[in-house]
Amino acid sequence: MKINDLIMVIDFGGQYNQLIARRVRDLGVNALIYPYDITVDEIRKINPKGIIFTGGPNSVYLKNSLKISKDIFDINIPILGICYGAQLIAYELGGDVKSIENSDIDIKPEYGRTKTDIINKSNLFDGINDDTTTWMSHTDYIDSVPKGFLITATTNNCKVAAMEDKEHNIYAIQFHPEVKHTICGDKVFSNFIYNICKCKNTWKMESFLKDSIVELRNKIKDGKVLCALSGGVDSSVVATLLSKAIGKNLTCVFVNHGLLRKYEEEEVKKIFSDKEKYDINFIYIDASKRFYEALRGITNPEEKRKIIGAEFIKVFEEEAKKIGYVDYLAQGTIYPDVIESGSKVSAVIKSHHNVGGLPSVIDFKEIIEPLKFLFKDEIRKLGLELGLPDTIVNRQPFPGPGLAIRIIGEVSEEKINIVKDADYILRQEIEIYYKDKNYKPSQYYVALTNMKSVGVVGDFRTYEYAVVIRAVDTDDFMTASASDLPYDLLQKISTKIVNEVKGVNRVFYDLTSKPPATIEME
Ligand code: XMP
Repeated sequence: MKINDLIMVIDFGGQYNQLIARRVRDLGVNALIYPYDITVDEIRKINPKGIIFTGGPNSVYLKNSLKISKDIFDINIPILGICYGAQLIAYELGGDVKSIENSDIDIKPEYGRTKTDIINKSNLFDGINDDTTTWMSHTDYIDSVPKGFLITATTNNCKVAAMEDKEHNIYAIQFHPEVKHTICGDKVFSNFIYNICKCKNTWKMESFLKDSIVELRNKIKDGKVLCALSGGVDSSVVATLLSKAIGKNLTCVFVNHGLLRKYEEEEVKKIFSDKEKYDINFIYIDASKRFYEALRGITNPEEKRKIIGAEFIKVFEEEAKKIGYVDYLAQGTIYPDVIESGSKVSAVIKSHHNVGGLPSVIDFKEIIEPLKFLFKDEIRKLGLELGLPDTIVNRQPFPGPGLAIRIIGEVSEEKINIVKDADYILRQEIEIYYKDKNYKPSQYYVALTNMKSVGVVGDFRTYEYAVVIRAVDTDDFMTASASDLPYDLLQKISTKIVNEVKGVNRVFYDLTSKPPATIEME
């Protein structure tokens, strides 16, 4: 990737690190996240225009806390330290950092919105009111600043809310500019990247698109590329980008596992088999029957997921063999996956299945991942730039195993049809209700319980399924809260479902957050 001006975000483990990179990019300069143990030689080679130290959960004065070589302060690249990053600058350059618990003065921890006073003129605070509000989250604090540093902002509880050594271009702020509650946050970043680091505004989707096409052409040349297309935004953007770059040398395989939402396969087929727009080889496989067969009698969620993943690979492999040798396999890996993979060891809650995860089964030279430096929002922007329709670009997340994990217990065609129809009603009603509002739940769907209960229609007793409406609000899908759907909307949806979907006589609304529940049912 052609990098242009780059801001290097050095990761000390803070919760909001991805947000820092996103804010900088939103302001028009590329930002990439690097681990704290990157060497100063590597940094020199990359030659960023500026460096940001992130926050982090450690205390700088502890033996095992995350550190970076002190040589970083001698390479003449502007540095901005945030929270832990600010304390690290103070500590490494001879200042003093203390914990509030061991403080000899009366000082309280600061969490949340905090009145902050700018007390000395600073390039970092150009255009910001002297009396502003920032978002704080710390129990350690800078007690004394290193030699050569000037305190530039302060709060009631925190003497050093910001400090700087202007001569050496080192800036430190205790607050979090990446959090929206810091009202001057974007201004702080833009002052840093433009006034201090002298970056140019070069991060634009339009130029990313042009550069990517050129790079993909140079790399792939006459090679053949295979892409698994799911109809989700990531794989659709990858396919569209590659189609612009290499046309007929791209083959997209769209496997319908029979667990897609209502009308989804038609939509995807229609888009990608439009020869006027996409001069690619598009292969559509309806493999529903074999997936249903493989899932027969299976009730355990993990087993269902594994069977779908394995079956998917089999179908894909069979198709790849028919095509013959391919040089490259294209995947829709996105930047958060790249950042999060590797270092973190966490318990397996669910074994995720993505259509991209196929490398071990097909003979090819290399994997290409054209989106691996982009965040989800940027991929959506790129999708629009590429001319993909809104139905794909703003499609809500849909799990690889599809409706199978929205049907509790055994999957059958009858149940799939129930869940498809009920979910379609919910989606349509939500679209209508939130059309002109600036809010919409982040994800919403209908699931089918394996519970049947008694109802009455006319003079007759019924004994039918109950479905669940799930709608959540979330930024990152790691945690989520149940959306506060209005009662009249819920009632309308519920009435439509029981009236129109055969086999359902009861509708529940799921009020649980994640954790303790998850967003999907299984
Ligand atoms: P959970 O249920 O783990 O879901 O709270 C978090 C987000 O991930 C999506 N999800 C998946 N996406 N393959 C995917 O590509 C999967 O196997 C999968 N399982 C869950 C889910 O829809 C939600 O957005």
